[in-house]
Order: sequence, then structure tokens, then C-alpha cells
Amino acid sequence: MSSRAPGPTDGAVELRGIVKRFPGIIANDNVDLTVAGGEVHALLGENGAGKTTLMSILSGAYRPDAGTVSVGGRAMSFRSPKQAIEAGIGMVHQHFRLVQPLSVAENVLLGASSSFRLADKATEDRVAELAEAYGIRVNPSAKIWQLSVGEQQRVEILKALFREASVLILDEPTAVLTPQEATHLFTIMRKIASEGRAVIFISHKLDEVMAVADRVTVLRAGRRVATLATGDSNKADLARLMVGREVMFRVARGDHEAGAPRLTVKGLGATGDLGLPALRDVTLEVRAGEILGVAGVAGNGQRELTEVIAGLRPATSGEVAIGGRDISAATPAERIGAGLGYVPEDRLGTGLIPSLGCIDNVMLKRTDEFARGFFINKQAAETATSELVDRFDVKTSSLHDPVSLMSGGNIQKLLLARELSAEPGTLVVAQPTAGLDVGATEA
Ligand SMILES: Nc1ncnc2c1ncn2[C@@H]1O[C@H](COP(=O)(O)OP(=O)(O)OP(=O)(O)O)[C@@H](O)[C@H]1O
Ligand SMILES: [Mg+2]
Repeated sequence: MSSRAPGPTDGAVELRGIVKRFPGIIANDNVDLTVAGGEVHALLGENGAGKTTLMSILSGAYRPDAGTVSVGGRAMSFRSPKQAIEAGIGMVHQHFRLVQPLSVAENVLLGASSSFRLADKATEDRVAELAEAYGIRVNPSAKIWQLSVGEQQRVEILKALFREASVLILDEPTAVLTPQEATHLFTIMRKIASEGRAVIFISHKLDEVMAVADRVTVLRAGRRVATLATGDSNKADLARLMVGREVMFRVARGDHEAGAPRLTVKGLGATGDLGLPALRDVTLEVRAGEILGVAGVAGNGQRELTEVIAGLRPATSGEVAIGGRDISAATPAERIGAGLGYVPEDRLGTGLIPSLGCIDNVMLKRTDEFARGFFINKQAAETATSELVDRFDVKTSSLHDPVSLMSGGNIQKLLLARELSAEPGTLVVAQPTAGLDVGATEA
């Protein structure tokens, strides 16, 4: 870990002519990017445009096929994320890299020291001190699995601050946050930049980019199409640069009568991971043709509510009915059978199996349809998956490669495609547009 404090010239990032190819695709095609210390620089682009790949090169996870990387004016050739961390690069990934059974302080320590130590009192104090200085609310001795997604993200930021990163990369940090949490994050980001560090911010939310970033670079299909000061730009221009066409920011909501009750929740109670009550006497009804939004600051029971409905968390009181049928005692599979679709908050945890390809992930939910005795009709499964991928515009170079290799937005599209195509009578979705670009959200 470096001991020097970031100075005014530290943190300047210079990427020149970056090229990165994967089988069948050029993810980065001769990309230039300059980020100054003290600046919040947004990186925009459609799902699959190459944003995460470019940042994975800057953070040492991938080596470029061509091009140069320099940090703080020094040429770098990272062979591992560890080397990038040592050079002052901190990256908060789209999918967090935290060790669930360990505490916040232990996770902050991981990777910062050469050998793993258990966090002692001094580390916990240092973490608490950093958290305090940046207004980050998190308990250093809590275990990761007990934290909400927003809290886990703050741990990732603390990790970078603990290692004194001079460049902080945030890959779609607000995709999983409420507007209040996002505003809080922006304050943290501006503070980090005000110390002369560089902050690189990937987001699909143009309002956020306009609000927090000084400059923005737009990528389209692996190429850089523009770098602009946000003060000289507007949302419509940015969307056009990203997508290459005009984008509608309004969704037409057709008028229709609500039908019979589809989902009925009565007096529902449940306990959270910390053993405290997470849901207390929740009652709601959703009728056919209705969309019911559940809003609130993360950590106030939304996740627990969706999990109880899906049958993944026991209810301590109350009942859940689908189409008038009480399913309170049903297994998750029986609930699916009763017409319930579920898109969880952690798409690569409970949603999809990261190491399996698109076909297998689609089949997970549709085994019956393609079963032939004990076997699966692979040809039919492949055809169905291929149709689904086309229909929902999921961009992937292979139906067989692990879905963890797909871009974040395309993973979300695959999950939504699978759940929507099953035509469930009732669909429970946590954060449906998380990670989707403006074009896909509009669709
Ligand atoms: N390890 C990999 N192996 C194969 N293909 C990859 C790998 N990583 C990325 N890709 C492909 O490179 C392209 C760019 O992906 P990338 O993750 O950089 O997109 P992105 O701009 O971050 O998109 P999103 O907004 O959906 O997160 C995609 O087509 C993706 O499938
Ligand atoms: Mg990405």
C-alpha cells in the first residue's frame, strides 16, 4: 500500500489507442480517454458498448491487445489487478467482489495487505474513521451477507479509500440505489474528486451524469464517439450520441381496467438477515393489468418482501395468495407452477448461474417444456433460447459461454427475457431496469 497522499497531478489517467478483442467481437476499438485529477468523468454507452472492458484494462483485470495506459504521468503495463491497485487504481465493480462471511473491516483489509490478516481493533477503528470522514454509513464489524446492496457498495468504496486510491472507478454504482442513496453517493464522489483524485463514473442514467460529472466520454460499439463537458451538453444529445438515434424518455402508459386480484399479501411479517423484523404486517393487492411500485430506501424490507413472495424466505406471519390460491406454504417451484415469475435483485446470485451459458440458464426455468423422458431436447432448447435472445435484443457472442462473460446490461436482459417469456400471471421484479441502457429501458 502506498503511503503518500494523492497530490494534484496524481490520478491523471491517460488511455491511448486501446484495443481489446474477445472471440467474435472487438470490445474496445482504438479508444482514447483522458481523465484529470479532481475531475468526475462519466463513461456512457449502450449495453455492450465496451465500458466495463475499458475499465477492466485500466484496473489490470485485462491486458489490452494494443494501446497504452498511463497513470499520474507514468506508463503502466498492469499484469494483474494487484499491480493496478498498487498504482492507485480502485475499482468498484458492477457485481461486487466481497467475501460474504467476512466482516466489513476484514473485506477492507483483503488485498490491501500481502497476506490475509483478521481485522483487529485498529483496522476497525481506521475503517470507522474513514467512513466518518466521507460520510459513509456502515458498521465495520457487520458481516457482508447482512448488508443491503447499497451498504455493500459503500464497503467497496471504503476498500479503495483504505488503499489510498488516486483513481476511483465506479461501474454503474447507482443501478441498485434509491434516488436518496444515489444523491448521497454523489456527495461522496464529489468529495473524493475535490481531494485531487480522479473519479470515473459509468452510468446509464443521464440525469445523474449531467448532475455529477464534469466531463463525459461516450462509447458506441467499442469506439469513442465523443468527449464533452457536461456544461456544453444535454440529455438528448448524449442519448443520441450513445444510441445513434433519437430516444423517447417517456413511456406511453395505456389505459386499461384493472382485473381480478392476482397477488394478495395479507398481514405479512418476516425476519431480516440480522434476525430483526424486516416486514411488519404488510398488506397489498395487485390486480391483473396493474403494476404496483414498491418504493423506499434500500434496507427497508423491499428485498425481504420479494423473497417471501417468491418462497425464498419464510414468513413469520400472514399469507400470500396468487390468483386467489393461498401459496403461503408452497415451495418456490410450486409458486412458479402457480404462475409466479421472479427477478431478484442479485442477478448473478439467485437469478442466473454465472458459470452456465444462456441456454442452460433459460432451461433452468423451463425444463418441463423441453424434457424428453430423462433428457432435455437440446436442439429445441437452443432454438428457443436463440429466439428469446433475438426478441429481447440480448447481445452475446455465444449461447454456450458462461453468462458471467456477458456485459451487465445484457445479463439483466437475459434474466428479464426468461421471466417475461414464461408469461407469468404475476411477476415480481426487483430493480427491473438496473443496468439497462436508455434504449433498452424505453423498449
Ligand atoms: N471476458 C469476456 N469474454 C468474452 N466476451 C466479453 C468478455 N468481456 C466482455 N465481453 C464482451 O465485450 C463486449 C463489451 O462488454 P462490456 O462489458 O465492456 O460492455 P458494457 O459497455 O460494460 O455494457 P453494460 O452497459 O451492459 O454493462 C460485450 O459484447 C461483451 O459480451
Ligand atoms: Mg458494463
